[in-house]
Amino acid sequence: MNGMRNLDEESITQAVLARQSETTNPRLKEIMTSLVQHLHAFARETKLTESEWETAIEFMTDVGHMCSSKRQEFILLSDTLGLSTLVVAQNHRKPQGCTEATVFGPFHVSDAPQYELGGDVSNGMKGKPCFVSGTVTGINGEAVAGATIEVWQADQDGFYDVQNPDLEHYQGRGVLHADASGRFNFKSIVAESYPIPHDGPVGKLLEALGRHPWRPAHLHFMITAPGYERLVTHVFREGDAYLDTDVVFGVRSSLIADWIKHPPGAGPDNQHYDRDFYTLDFNFVLNPCD
Ligand SMILES: [Fe+2]
Repeated sequence: MNGMRNLDEESITQAVLARQSETTNPRLKEIMTSLVQHLHAFARETKLTESEWETAIEFMTDVGHMCSSKRQEFILLSDTLGLSTLVVAQNHRKPQGCTEATVFGPFHVSDAPQYELGGDVSNGMKGKPCFVSGTVTGINGEAVAGATIEVWQADQDGFYDVQNPDLEHYQGRGVLHADASGRFNFKSIVAESYPIPHDGPVGKLLEALGRHPWRPAHLHFMITAPGYERLVTHVFREGDAYLDTDVVFGVRSSLIADWIKHPPGAGPDNQHYDRDFYTLDFNFVLNPCD
């Protein structure tokens, strides 16, 4: 094609779009057209300098180098820029009454251990004892028998098991199945607020932006059942100091619940506790898929 020489700061955008105009995958073409247009517009609007461009390249390189099988710095970057919440929100517009979705986060693993109902998913993780119970239903109140419930959480110091370099077995995560009436229960520890890992490039960026790295206390849930849309969500702890400034913008009012404190005595598992223990009850409502 002629006209692709002597490109200047105006004509470069159309030249790139013309060059990729033969893209056969229509969705890829749409995404790359928009990406190029926005990226170029961003560079023009900010009058991006060469040294700033280099800084950005170095930053993205550092983000990549920070990633491993146990650390996902790109998800942290997406989460802290609000991109994850935006993508979740525009892909999970649900009928009124369904449990809202929120960000997936970087700490899920695909091979968490299975537990029977009532099992202790903390698996020895440090923290105050907590008993979690609830139901999984559909939008019309029908029980979702046998729903698969994955839960994962941080310990009392705010660390997930996978952040421990000496990890030998998973702690604070598990897979359970609701009973025939959609009920579930398990034992764990109380969730506490925690800073996202901020010893890498995303942490440096947050600091430069004058932002704190904290998330309010929460339990992560992923609930799946045939005939229903997969639900990825959190339950947040009422009263947490960071509910209004979550570093990853994940809080939704409908997902906040009370962790009820009980004095020492008999727990729901009929064991005696000589320290305070907590209970949490939360009902999940799944969106049917057609
Ligand atoms: Fe989390």
